[in-house]
Amino acid sequence: MPTVTIHPTGEVIFLDPEETVLSGLYKAGYAYTVGCRRGGCGICKVDCREGTFVYNRPIADSVISDEERTDGTCLSCRAVPEGDITIEMRDGDVRLVNKFLRDINERARQRAEALARAQADLASATTSKE
Ligand code: FES
Repeated sequence: MPTVTIHPTGEVIFLDPEETVLSGLYKAGYAYTVGCRRGGCGICKVDCREGTFVYNRPIADSVISDEERTDGTCLSCRAVPEGDITIEMRDGDVRLVNKFLRDINERARQRAEALARAQADLASATTSKE
């Protein structure tokens, strides 16, 4: 389950596999500057500070320049993280617009962390028996 950490607030958003950054933000109750939601206007750009992502559809050079394709610019409505990533908004911060959805995301985070701890404990117990 890939995560998106928002710098500098530290909010962590959980994404489904193949889910875009922007979709994950909205699913977790946050809103960000958005236009076409189809990779055509460029208004949803954020900066990817850590991690990598791919685009789920081709993006026109008029929306993302060659330089932006290598400098961490992330078109959030089309970017699908390849693992955990950290992003920073360009136009102010994300806005929490639905606390209920954020709470659901928080419970998903807690379940994922508990699962990771259980898997680490199991791996440790298996290793110590060998
Ligand atoms: S909202 Fe238009 S490119 Fe993302």
